[in-house]
Amino acid sequence: MTLRFDNRVAIVTGAGGGLGRAHALALAARGAKVVVNDFGGALDGTGGAATPAQKVVAEIEAAGGEAIANAASVTDFAAVEAMVAEVQARWGRIDILVNNAGILRDKTFAKMEIADFRAVIEVHLMGAVHCCKAVWEIMRQQNYGRIVLTSSSSGLFGNFGQSNYAAAKMGLVGLMNALGLEGAKYNVHVNCLAPTAATRMTDTLFPPDVLEAMKPEAVSPAVLAMVHEDAPNRAIINAGAGGFERTYVAMTQGIYVPLGPDTADQVVARFDELSNRDNDVLPQNAGGQGGVELAKAGLKSGTRKS
Ligand code: NAI
Repeated sequence: MTLRFDNRVAIVTGAGGGLGRAHALALAARGAKVVVNDFGGALDGTGGAATPAQKVVAEIEAAGGEAIANAASVTDFAAVEAMVAEVQARWGRIDILVNNAGILRDKTFAKMEIADFRAVIEVHLMGAVHCCKAVWEIMRQQNYGRIVLTSSSSGLFGNFGQSNYAAAKMGLVGLMNALGLEGAKYNVHVNCLAPTAATRMTDTLFPPDVLEAMKPEAVSPAVLAMVHEDAPNRAIINAGAGGFERTYVAMTQGIYVPLGPDTADQVVARFDELSNRDNDVLPQNAGGQGGVELAKAGLKSGTRKS
């Protein structure tokens, strides 16, 4: 199958280098018109320059594609709105939004300043919120939209020294879960990417064969899969070094312990049993948990006492 994105307009944030650049090039190579957004700063989010985005636009144009550069910071909602307005004026639609922009301020929580926590949340979580909000009405109106939020194994599974980043990255999973529900009837699908790639963001101490396997280009096929017409909705896809996996947020069947004097003691004593993963459930929305719990109590969801 050859995935094509002709006549589709895509915005990729943080596309001046690393993974975002690879996503932008991959989309453009398959026919999409691409907005290469990047504020062009340092890894910790300081500084800024339009050059990285312009260079990627030049690469796309040299390969025969169509692209424009944009140097807005995703933390600036007005600038993001202006970018979206410019794209609308130029190409008349926005089909794809890949939220990829990110920074790092790694420190153990004991040493982390609140400002470093906030800065990371601002770029990863609020930056994605700004971009989603700016395109949301357009996608709803055109009855088509594909959004990718870039999560991380650091958030999904935890990473020492990255409390700010992990919180932001798991926040994006929550954003996906809600937006995917709200967008479904307008054919707006929202998915999460959890990449692994060798970029300036990751350790540069990898041996050459690992560096080659972990090139950002190996992740971009997962993005293409999440932004084409038959894309899933509300999936977390992991990708790196040629591996593609899926992460689920699952709930165990657990135990039923009606409230009594020793309920807490039983929860402690039966912790292994409530943790047992046989017949895990994947609730389709927040009500799924209550449904499982009420069923164990012999009640149906929505059952009322008369
Ligand atoms: P990178 O540092 O090469 O790329 C991030 C890009 O975002 C940079 O070009 C930077 O200028 C841009 N950016 C930062 N703040 C911005 C802002 N406020 N507005 C607009 N652009 C901004 O890093 P990499 O590795 O390519 O990361 C891309 C995304 O993938 C990030 O969200 C990162 O958290 C995520 N990720 C990367 C992993 C990896 O193994 N490289 C692992 C898990 C997640």
